[in-house]
Amino acid sequence: MVAPMTDQNALKRAVAAKSLEYVQDGMKLGLGSGSTAEIFVEMLALRVRGGEKLLCVPTSEKTATLARKLGLTLASLNDLAPLDLTIDGADEADRNLDLIKGGGGMLLREKIVAAASRRMIVIADESKLVPRLGKYPLPVEVVEFGHKSIAARLSAALAAAGYANMPMTLRQLDGATFKTDGGNVIYDCAFGMIHSAPKLAAAISAVPGVVEHGLFIGIATTLLIAADGEIEVINRV
Ligand code: A5P
Repeated sequence: MVAPMTDQNALKRAVAAKSLEYVQDGMKLGLGSGSTAEIFVEMLALRVRGGEKLLCVPTSEKTATLARKLGLTLASLNDLAPLDLTIDGADEADRNLDLIKGGGGMLLREKIVAAASRRMIVIADESKLVPRLGKYPLPVEVVEFGHKSIAARLSAALAAAGYANMPMTLRQLDGATFKTDGGNVIYDCAFGMIHSAPKLAAAISAVPGVVEHGLFIGIATTLLIAADGEIEVINRV
C-alpha cells in the first residue's frame, strides 16, 4: 500500500514510480509523451545517473528534448526495434486496455513506437479509467493538404458507421492551427460514447488523407491506474 495521495500530480508521480519497477538495466525503451510520461522520464533519468544502461526512443520532439536534457541516451527506432518496453500515458483507458491517446498531438509516433515494442505499459491516474471510451474527443491526424475536404469525407464515413453529425474541431494552439511533429493537422471528434472501437478505427483509417487516429486497440499490455492510496494493475489476459 502506498501513502495516501491527494492531488492529481501526486497520483501521476505514484504511477510513474510504479512503472519503473518494470524497467530493467540494459533495456531498449520507448518513452511516452504528456505530463505523466514526462514524470516517468525524469524518474528514469535518476536511475541512469545511478549507472544503469538504457537506450531510449522518444515518442515526440518534446520528450526527446526533455530526455536529452536529462542525459538519457536516445537512438533511432530504425536501429533499436523491436523495443523491450514502452511506457506512456493515455487520455482514456478501459478495462480491455483499449485507449484514446493524442491529447498532446503525439499519437502517430506514440502508436508507431508502442506497436514496435514487446510490451506497452500505460500509466494514468484514475480520472482516465472509463467504462467505455469516447467522452474524451478522439484525435484524428490528417495531412494538411486538402484537410477540409478530408474532414468532409471523414464526417461522411463516421455517419455511415453510425455516428451522424459528429462535432469535429480543427485543433488550434495559440491562435493558429496546431501542427503535429509530422507537420499534419488534427481534427478532434467528440463521440461522447464509442460503441465498437475496432469498427470505428477501420472506418476512420479507410479515409484517404487520414494519417492516424488516437484509438489504441490491442496494443497496451498493462494498465497502471493510480487511485487514492493504491495503484491498480490491469494486465491483458
Ligand atoms: C500525447 O499525445 C498523449 O497521448 C498523452 O499520452 C496523453 O494526452 C496523456 O497525457 P497526460 O499524461 O498529460 O494526461
